[in-house]
Amino acid sequence: MKDSDTSAMSWDDWDEANDPRPEITEFDRVVEASLSRRGFLSGLVAFGSGAAALGTGLLNGTSAQAQDAARFAFKPIPISTDGTVHVPDGYNWQAMVSWGDALFSDAEAFDPENGVTAASADRVFGENTDGMELFLVGNRQIIAVNHEYTNNKVNLPKTHVDGKAGSAEDAQLLRNLQGVAVIEVAEGEDGWAVVVDSPYNRRITQDTVINLSGPVAGSDLVKTLSDPDGMTARGTMNNCGAGKTPWGTYLTCEENFNGYFGSTDQAHERTPEQARYGVGLTGRYGYENFDARFDISKDPNEPNTQGWVVEIDPTNPDSVPNKRTALGRFKHENAACAIAPDGRVVVYMGDDERGEFLYKFVSDAVYVPGGDTSTLLDEGTLYVAKFLENGSGQWLPLTPETTGMALDEILVFARIAASKVGATTMDRPEWVAVSPNEIVAYCALTNNKNRGIKTNAGGDETPVGGPNPRAENRYGQIVRWYPANEDHTDPAFTWDLYVMAGNPEKHDDVYSGSRNVTAGNMFNSPDGMAIDSTGLIWIQTDGDFSNEGDFEGMGNNQMLAGDPATGEIQRFMTGPYGSEVTGVCWSADKRTMFVGIQHPDAGFPGDGLPRSTIVAIKRDDNALVG
Ligand code: FEO
Ligand code: CA
Ligand code: CA
Repeated sequence: MKDSDTSAMSWDDWDEANDPRPEITEFDRVVEASLSRRGFLSGLVAFGSGAAALGTGLLNGTSAQAQDAARFAFKPIPISTDGTVHVPDGYNWQAMVSWGDALFSDAEAFDPENGVTAASADRVFGENTDGMELFLVGNRQIIAVNHEYTNNKVNLPKTHVDGKAGSAEDAQLLRNLQGVAVIEVAEGEDGWAVVVDSPYNRRITQDTVINLSGPVAGSDLVKTLSDPDGMTARGTMNNCGAGKTPWGTYLTCEENFNGYFGSTDQAHERTPEQARYGVGLTGRYGYENFDARFDISKDPNEPNTQGWVVEIDPTNPDSVPNKRTALGRFKHENAACAIAPDGRVVVYMGDDERGEFLYKFVSDAVYVPGGDTSTLLDEGTLYVAKFLENGSGQWLPLTPETTGMALDEILVFARIAASKVGATTMDRPEWVAVSPNEIVAYCALTNNKNRGIKTNAGGDETPVGGPNPRAENRYGQIVRWYPANEDHTDPAFTWDLYVMAGNPEKHDDVYSGSRNVTAGNMFNSPDGMAIDSTGLIWIQTDGDFSNEGDFEGMGNNQMLAGDPATGEIQRFMTGPYGSEVTGVCWSADKRTMFVGIQHPDAGFPGDGLPRSTIVAIKRDDNALVG
């Protein structure tokens, strides 16, 4: 791709521009195939005991108000198209922390016109808040939260060049604004705030030294200029979704790491493995112009040290994070843990790119509360999902026997291993959520404009069918699976679709969505998800907020709540124009819900530069919110 201003592109669009692939299928044929699946779909989208209620018209109402039901402790709200946050009557919200807010008193104050300096950028709350989890140390409440990427024109308002770093200092500033923050938070008379200078406050950036642990540590594939022994990585990149282990550590997930690498030699030939992962000759940040670490013509293995799940102990600010290589390398969305009946640990993970896969890791050892957990995520087996048309599925192990690859190759190039075993190409797997009350897991398949049209980056076909039932899918769906024998380690499962997003006002075919999508609750591009202690599933969107054409009536990105039993879905919150709603966790007493607002437009939360922000949502009567 030629040098140009790519700063306003979504990651999906940037991948498409960076790695264009020809259309492989004649469009009319696949749309026809998709539409002919209507009967099949109506059978697929089932809601257990609530299915009968769906047929009675409960969900056929035309207004959000008509859907007010006892299961939801709020009156659903309409769409919004303005520049602020909206919550239901009887609820309130406040901005708790925004990018540039000091975590330490030695940080320079945020300048509404200029932002922060490179020197302060790793002493402040970072940019683009994403996945987060809450941890307790005694009575102290600590949030670990991701800072996914930077908005270069916002973060370098005076010095960016075509939306990229214009100098080594710019690049340093951007690296410092990304990674992870660990922040102690407390509720006072003026609401929630960060405890500045808390001993738990910490920033982990794109330069922090992190251990490579598990089977890839020391592999030739991760020997770099920074560490010729291949035992450590520099920094963590594009930290998207998150997870929490049963033993109280934080899992941060490295997603679109490919965008940080480029080449100062435009004649350099990238490897097929780099092509599969979208690593190209031109990065989105300009880092390669200032540092050989980001130049694949000079440090070709450096991208292999990114794309992992990283385990962080937020209760120990001196701990060194570990990249858990046994969990595989891909564009990780989040990491959702479950414990099997025998105590083994299961981690579900999506690879968010068009036509990539859904994975799970199963530990060899069992989790024993209070026992040693330091190597639980280092030894085990990585599996990839194959969904069958009949509503069943299999987890396929990725081993030297099944792939013909060495173990370090399987893990570093997990996409290639998964292609070899014939995994199901998915519509961009985003967050996985594991139910705390049932043996079931959900994955948001956000959208895939290329479904049925183009292959994935590995040349695998993307047939219309199974859990990806619509050609040129711009709305997305949520698939859920029930492990056989009520055991998340079981290789077999059954599956159905919890919801197919769509627009019933614009379409009367499969693009109208499943029956639990109405004019009153419609949305597109489900992304973040979490299931609260009451069993409600919270769904956050990152989609088209134009409110035009196929998306008319959907408004800004939003957060909805769904009832797993009935399929009913209601809109709880809307974000400011331009933003994506991403990341959710709760205070220890469940009276506050923390929600992330990423890349809002100017005007949020106040004047000056736009600021990604965690908002705290409460009920006016201080009752429980999850
Ligand atoms: Fe960072 Fe796939 O979202
Ligand atoms: Ca996401
Ligand atoms: Ca997304």
